[in-house]
Amino acid sequence: MKPLLKIAIPKGRIFKDATKLFRAAGLPLPEDFDEGRKLIVQSPEAGFEFILAKPVDVPTYVEYGVADLGISGKDVLLEDNRDVYELLDLNIARCHMSVIGLPDWKPVYYPRVATKYPHVASQFFRERGQQVEVIKLHGSIELAPLIGLADRIVDLVETGQTMRENGLVELEKMYEITSRLIANRVSYRLKNEAIQALCDQLQPVLLTGG
Ligand code: PRP
Repeated sequence: MKPLLKIAIPKGRIFKDATKLFRAAGLPLPEDFDEGRKLIVQSPEAGFEFILAKPVDVPTYVEYGVADLGISGKDVLLEDNRDVYELLDLNIARCHMSVIGLPDWKPVYYPRVATKYPHVASQFFRERGQQVEVIKLHGSIELAPLIGLADRIVDLVETGQTMRENGLVELEKMYEITSRLIANRVSYRLKNEAIQALCDQLQPVLLTGG
């Protein structure tokens, strides 16, 4: 049977919380879902096909309609600004995006800010009337102030462990981040019944606030 819904689900830190949430909502997922290395996993009883994607790519799959739905961190949605519907705040993978630096950080003329989120960072400092040079990195962002690449970084803080272990401090909280259920605009119309049914099942198990 053709799956009713194709759902892009991110590998990595959101994956565990997302599968837990689906199971808590009584949605049957394959037993070995969490262990294998398959990138497309069928869940025939639920009528789902899961596409296991890199987190930053989830909104792209959903915008282009190769996935009807996706689970994506708000950080990725803010940075990418894809043309998708945001249906539910799943309230998982909660963290925040912050400006981080060394404790003895001092303002300099035309500072450099390293980040995985160049658009979000540029807009944030522009709105404050601060001129900064934004440097895009792909990971281990905390290295940048330690080795003199940047004065500050914009990055996610979850437990704060990475920051602390590298002698950095949070200078300013920017945004609360959680994962969202997103939908392709056309799928949302054509498969509305199935999408609504999934939302209705997830809704009662979503934790609020936090
Ligand atoms: C993220 C983020 C921070 C860290 C925050 O990195 O960019 O480095 O987690 O988590 P914590 O506050 O619990 O320490 P990730 O693990 O995704 O790795 P990468 O960005 O270095 O690839």
